[in-house]
Amino acid sequence: MADIHTGLDSPRGIWWKPAHRNEKLWVTIAFAWCMVLFAMMPLWHWKGGQNPSGIRRRVEPAAFYQRTQEFITQYRVGEDHGIPIVAPPPGSDIYLAAMTYQWTPILKLQQGAEYTLHLSALDVNHGFNLNPLNVNFQVVPGYDYGLRVTPTEAGDFRIICNEFCGIGHHTMVGRVIVVNEKGEEVTRAGGQP
Ligand code: CUA
Repeated sequence: MADIHTGLDSPRGIWWKPAHRNEKLWVTIAFAWCMVLFAMMPLWHWKGGQNPSGIRRRVEPAAFYQRTQEFITQYRVGEDHGIPIVAPPPGSDIYLAAMTYQWTPILKLQQGAEYTLHLSALDVNHGFNLNPLNVNFQVVPGYDYGLRVTPTEAGDFRIICNEFCGIGHHTMVGRVIVVNEKGEEVTRAGGQP
């Protein structure tokens, strides 16, 4: 009969001997590092402000689309390549819908004003990446993420989808215009794609 290891017999080796000093040392280091990373999660959330602390609730994609359309109708000021440009008043709830392969509408915001940005996807997962700033956020269908945002810089920004969502993923570029405190549009060198 072939020599088959069934687990009924003790495995071969020297596993029953006490661990070497070096092994104990490495396990201790790895464990300590695990604890550091574990502590970092709540620390990042509360101290670092790294996690979105806004509102999050379930929403039907159709209902989110409906709400976005109402928002567009209410504050529409223009159009760019068929995408409506919307200028909501400071302090308002603003809506941005992600779908294959576009972001709608184009938001025209005021520097220094606070908004509650509602983000959701209508079909599949998309990624909200505001360029050239380091803003990154997953946009998931079925969830409405309300983020409290205050644009601190005026300029013409691009939203790049950074979650692979299909064949047109690389064309999924949106736009956010931030006007300065005087209400003027400024072109920022880094704001172009
Ligand atoms: Cu949307 Cu990639």
